[in-house]
Amino acid sequence: MRVFGTMVALHGTRELSLGAPRHRALLGLLVVRLNQVVPVPQLIEELWGGRPPRRPTAALHTYICHLRRALSFGARPGGPSMLVRHQAPGYVLALDPDEVDAHRFERLVIQARRDIAVQDYRVAQDRLGAALALWRGVPYLELVDYAPMAEESARLEQARLTAVELHAETSLALGENDAVVARLHPEAQRYPTRECLIAYLMTGLYRLGRQADALRLFERTRAHLAEELGVDAGAELQRIHAAILRQELPFGDRAATRVEVTAGEDRADAAASRQAEHPTGGGHEDVVTCGTRSARSALSDERAEPGAVAAVPHTTGVPHSAGVPNSAGVPNSAGVPHPLTSLPFVGRTYELAVLGAWADAALSGEGGLAAVTGQPGIGKTELTMEVTRGAREAGHEVIGVSCRGKDGPAYGVWARILRQLSHTRPEAFRMVSARYSRLLGGLLSDVPSGAVEDVQPPLQAPFLVEDAVCAILVALARQKPFLLVLDDLQSADYSSLNLLHLLTCRLPEVPLGVLVTSADPRPASESTPQTALDHLLGSARTLTLRLGGLSEQAVAALVATHVDADVDAEATLALHKRSGGSPYALRRLLSLA
Ligand SMILES: Nc1ncnc2c1ncn2[C@@H]1O[C@H](COP(=O)(O)OP(=O)(O)OP(=O)(O)O)[C@@H](O)[C@H]1O
Ligand SMILES: [Mg+2]
Repeated sequence: MRVFGTMVALHGTRELSLGAPRHRALLGLLVVRLNQVVPVPQLIEELWGGRPPRRPTAALHTYICHLRRALSFGARPGGPSMLVRHQAPGYVLALDPDEVDAHRFERLVIQARRDIAVQDYRVAQDRLGAALALWRGVPYLELVDYAPMAEESARLEQARLTAVELHAETSLALGENDAVVARLHPEAQRYPTRECLIAYLMTGLYRLGRQADALRLFERTRAHLAEELGVDAGAELQRIHAAILRQELPFGDRAATRVEVTAGEDRADAAASRQAEHPTGGGHEDVVTCGTRSARSALSDERAEPGAVAAVPHTTGVPHSAGVPNSAGVPNSAGVPHPLTSLPFVGRTYELAVLGAWADAALSGEGGLAAVTGQPGIGKTELTMEVTRGAREAGHEVIGVSCRGKDGPAYGVWARILRQLSHTRPEAFRMVSARYSRLLGGLLSDVPSGAVEDVQPPLQAPFLVEDAVCAILVALARQKPFLLVLDDLQSADYSSLNLLHLLTCRLPEVPLGVLVTSADPRPASESTPQTALDHLLGSARTLTLRLGGLSEQAVAALVATHVDADVDAEATLALHKRSGGSPYALRRLLSLA
């Protein structure tokens, strides 16, 4: 049986004649409930709606006889087909599910999901390709006027989208970024609010060096979500957006080599050997998350598994639609969304309250600089993301960049910020920056690959350049307040730090907040002069929070997200002590357990 496109019953290669539309509808009603008894009253209701014939049971019987004849290949001429059976209180179509294309499709998708879970991407991709090749048009195309077929058709369409997304996931894992973009582009136009799909497409675009397209896509999606559903982009999509802004998704070629590493490397062993390399948890790899991992990991859990490939998750927490297989591979007919695998944020109540209040004040006109410092892996980046999530949810724009690239060109950090603002507010940006275009030169140029190395440092006197950038930012903030997030400020080039210093002097009356993360500043001493960074972080104008370890309670909460069973207080205490409350160390301990 084929139900993709118009319904067709085949015996071998011979197409069977199914007769008039209502005869076909009866078959459709039975296929939808394959191997289940459909009661007679239900069949009558679904077949004729509120306008049944005068003797409905007899009429139904006639239709059943017709159907049996149509399907009676191989049976005794005139005898009943073994396929359509009477079984009180109704009828059942008894058929091996594999004989129906839609069932074969779903089985392949479920198997592919299992392959992905064990990182067998090539096999998964082949299966998904085979599943999608079965798709030959809208399921039950000519029968969608009947409610059960319309519902099933919609459910199958959602399952198709899931298959497309999983296929994209395998392609990303295999470094086939072109294929991802080609396949997802038309889907994203049809389903502009399907966040998981958009997330994969953004990743593919970014990896092809089309960062600007990826950012535009995000903004378009956000606008669609706001218009159609009145909601903001989901947290996971925002995290991927932030990862792109911070240029922390690796590009395809690197990713492709990483897959091979992952495939042959046991995860626990790999983590253990890296632990030996970086006992304190320092040393960033680029993004690592794959398949079932969360987008939160895409931004911040990368160090644990540098062997894995950058991709976006299929269980992202992005809402999936009804009827798609869940992570256990079981079709989710109740339409319950996928279980979320994103890792929850725990603790930091005090810091969140302080920084939340700071952000509110900044966005309402009391701009300023706030800094989160602490040892590597203590949770600085994660905390800032939690803070900015609140701001985004309140409808504010947040521009984030990573400051890595100390040896890059002067003002590299600000070049990236300007570039992002030129994408998110093209009109306003053009207006306010026009008069500085000669002065700022290369800093304002749009570099499609997003490579900082391509930015030409301006030739003019530093103060003029810094003044111009501050003027642009202040003018844009006065039009619409925003937050800037500068991650790993300790890695910023010297000129960028100077510019930040100048900006902070201008902020007090401007609705612009700058939130930075940084390694701890060096304590002032007579022998070592303070650096520009030390000055900034130590300034009385800066709100500096030094992060310590998580509380015991927060550690318990984090442990609970990793371990299904109850963990007793003693074990939690031991983990707290061993990790020093560092969420990174804790995660690593848990993953090795
Ligand atoms: N409050 C938290 N709740 C749950 N997980 C957290 C929390 N804080 C941090 N983590 C996790 O701990 C890990 C390290 O966090 P993060 O990257 O924010 O540290 P960091 O201080 O920014 O490190 P670095 O100095 O290397 O930049 C990440 O995997 C992150 O998801
Ligand atoms: Mg960090």
